[in-house]
Formats: sequence, structure tokens, C-alpha cells
Amino acid sequence: MKMKKFLSIVFAAAIALNLAACGSSTTPAASAGSGSAGSSGSASSSDNLIVVGFSQVGAESDWRTANTKSMQDTFTEDKGYKLIFDDAQQKQENQITAIRNFIQQEVDYIVLAPVTETGWDTVLKEAKDAGIPVIIVDRMIDVSDDSLYTAWVGSNFRSEGDEAVAWMESNLSSTDPVNIVHIQGTIGSSAQIGRSEALVDGAAKHSNWNIIAQQSGEFTQAKGQEVMESVLKQYSDIDVVYCENDNEAFGAIDAIEAAGKTCGVNGDIKVISFDATHAGLTQTLAGKINYDVECNPLHGPRVEAIIQDLEAGKTPEKLAYVDENAFDATTITQAIIDARAY
Ligand code: AHR
Repeated sequence: MKMKKFLSIVFAAAIALNLAACGSSTTPAASAGSGSAGSSGSASSSDNLIVVGFSQVGAESDWRTANTKSMQDTFTEDKGYKLIFDDAQQKQENQITAIRNFIQQEVDYIVLAPVTETGWDTVLKEAKDAGIPVIIVDRMIDVSDDSLYTAWVGSNFRSEGDEAVAWMESNLSSTDPVNIVHIQGTIGSSAQIGRSEALVDGAAKHSNWNIIAQQSGEFTQAKGQEVMESVLKQYSDIDVVYCENDNEAFGAIDAIEAAGKTCGVNGDIKVISFDATHAGLTQTLAGKINYDVECNPLHGPRVEAIIQDLEAGKTPEKLAYVDENAFDATTITQAIIDARAY
């Protein structure tokens, strides 16, 4: 048992004895539960649970929902954890506030799924000074001092983008002009940076590839649809839409069909997507998404393995990349979709 937890148990026992001696029925303040990081005071519990404060980006996509579920299914009281979950609604300032609340609550571990790469140095220094290990999950952070986080686990977003570009190289004309609409993710997030750089670099290598529009769809279906609707009003000759996640692709498909055009296999506009969620692959099997590159959201057990290493006094890998696949509309099967957990 860690010294901090031991002391908090001793402290709680002393309070209980004191209250009993005074004849009071008041119980010590409960620690913050799942769903909010807003409470102040120590979250250390007297039941020897490992307290994990998780700052989640938001609920912008099917991928994110699956990621939240993976964390909540992993960090349960049955397994010895108390999870304090905070949804930042895609705002970095909310994540910074959540981390400060976790520090104030003296959690055992802070897990951060960062909305963007930059802007974390100050608050992570505060966590470090408080002696709380920080685990980064999903997207990466860009900090001046790598000791501000203990470990990271997530995707190689650049290689995901390269995978999509390789498909485009094999499936688009090498001579005729190829007009590409690029719907980006949240600007400044690792997922956007890696996938965008892959496309921009790919286009630089092919003189017939033209990125005719480039705008953020913020990883949401509504914004993906809005961007595509506006681009369809400006351009009649679109060959490909490169959507940086499945939800943007769903919005783009709705916009294309509402404009009286077709998409996907044998359609007017080819659709590239990322995540390969159940819903994304269903659209791939239906032939509306041509190619869907996987981004695996099941990070709960991976983060737990890091925490268990730390509890055992071991040093986890600093950086751990997840293996991922990609799915082509011409080869995907229902069995592949049925076998997926998200
Ligand atoms: O960081 C992972 C990305 O974030 C996923 O591709 C996207 O769906 C999510 O919102």
C-alpha cells in the first residue's frame, strides 16, 4: 500500500473515532464519484481503491464513445479502482480545470486524453510537483520536458494517414486531375496532424492531385456534413473526400446524397475515412466508404496494464503504439464487422 493511501486510512479512522466520541452521526465527506471532477477535497478512499482521474476529450464521435466505455468498463470498483471521469466537451481549458481538481483530490493517477498537443506544460508540472503520475492516452502531447508524463499509449496517426494515401495511390488515376476535399479533425490534435500531414505530403508527390478544399469538421457528423454541403455548392467536379474520422464521413455522405450525387464504390465521389468503428465499417460494406483505416479506441486495459506496472514498482514502456488495420469496401465482410468490439 502506498504511504499516501496508508496515511489517508489512518486519518479517516481518526476522524471516525473522533466523531464517535462526540456522538455525531455525520460521516466524512464522500469522495467524488464517476461523472464529475468538480468536488474538492481528497478522493482517496478508505476502501483501498486505486483512484484514477480521467480527463476525456468529449463525446464528439462513435470512436470517443467506445473509448469512454473501454475506460469505464476497466476501472471499476470490482477490479479495485475508483474512476473519476470528466468530459471536457472538446475544450482544453476544461481539461486543465479537471486536472487541477484531480490534483486537489489527491488521486493516485491522472489519465489524460488530450484534445490538442500543446499547452500542457504548466498543469502537468503541477501534477508532477504533487507526485501524481500522469498517463497520456490516445493523442500525444508536445511538452518541453518528457518527465511531465509517465507513459503514453495510442495510435500512430501518421501511419494511419499513410495507409489511406497508399490506397489512393493504387486506386486513383495517375494522370487525370484528382480533386480532393479534405475534411480535417480538431485542429492541433495528433489525430488531425498525422492524418493531414500524410495527405498533404501525398498530394505534393502527385502533380495531378489537387486539394481543392481543406476545412475542419471537428470530428463530428454535423460539422462534416456542413463542410461538405458548402464545398458541394462551390465545386461540381469532386473526385475524393478524405474525412479524418467516421462521423465526418457519415455527414459528408449525407451531404453528397442530398446534393443528388453518389459516393463510394462506383459512385461519383470516393470516400476515405478513419476509425473503422462498427458504424463506419457498415457503411464500408454498403459500399459508401471506399476505405476505412482503423483507429483502435480500446485503451482501458492498456492503461490499466501501465498502472499495474507502476503499482508493482516496474517501469512501463514510455511510448506504446497500438497495431491497426484498414478495410477496403471491395473485400470487407459482415463477419469482420460482427467480430468487432466497437
Ligand atoms: O484521437 C482519435 C480520434 O478522435 C478519432 O479518430 C476520432 O473519431 C476521435 O474523435
